[in-house]
Amino acid sequence: MIVAVDGPTASGKGTIARALAERYRLPHLDTGLLYRAVGRQVLLDGGDPDDPADALAATRFPDTLLADPHLRSEETGGLASRVSIHPVVREALFERQRAFATQPGGAVLDGRDIGTVIAPEAEVKLFVTASVQARAERRWKEMRDRGVEVSLEEIAANLRRRDERDTQRKDAPLRAAPDARVIDTSALDRDEAVAAAIEAVESAL
Ligand code: C5P
Repeated sequence: MIVAVDGPTASGKGTIARALAERYRLPHLDTGLLYRAVGRQVLLDGGDPDDPADALAATRFPDTLLADPHLRSEETGGLASRVSIHPVVREALFERQRAFATQPGGAVLDGRDIGTVIAPEAEVKLFVTASVQARAERRWKEMRDRGVEVSLEEIAANLRRRDERDTQRKDAPLRAAPDARVIDTSALDRDEAVAAAIEAVESAL
């Protein structure tokens, strides 16, 4: 069984993907981490994230980079969103994601284009979304708990910028697959969101 979980930043897709992987005992790949590693590697190389050649060179990042806490930062998220525009970067990361998705026994993958490009044959496709306000508040609380001081407005503006870049790009834009089940987590807490996802999986099987 392949489970594809797509959606924008801070929608709850990562939490849902991890919970589903645990429940159905499937391996899980957070594909955003791959794009974040490319973004981080460009920075380490002193390259330009908007230059396709620099971004392509950065796709050969060492696997150890995937464990770097810097990957979680907002700055790296922004860089990831810039390098992910280049078709050569998406192509370079395709095989790795495809191999993960098609391993015997199945897998859960979360990202932006799993149900549309990486695994369009997935048995279960979820599109997890939430209002900008709800997502900004979540991100703000997360950052406050980590001791980072930022305004809610700044976070909301950042999310909008990232959404716009992810939905407007030509290659593999963020959008729900026609056969995806949409889960809006705006008014749901963690457990409710996971319960809604499990219900969606059960009814798709
Ligand atoms: O999900 P996350 O916020 O970690 O993703 C970082 C960025 O990587 C996204 O804003 C998006 O531009 C890009 N991405 C992508 N395709 C994926 C996963 C992430 O383009 N499958």
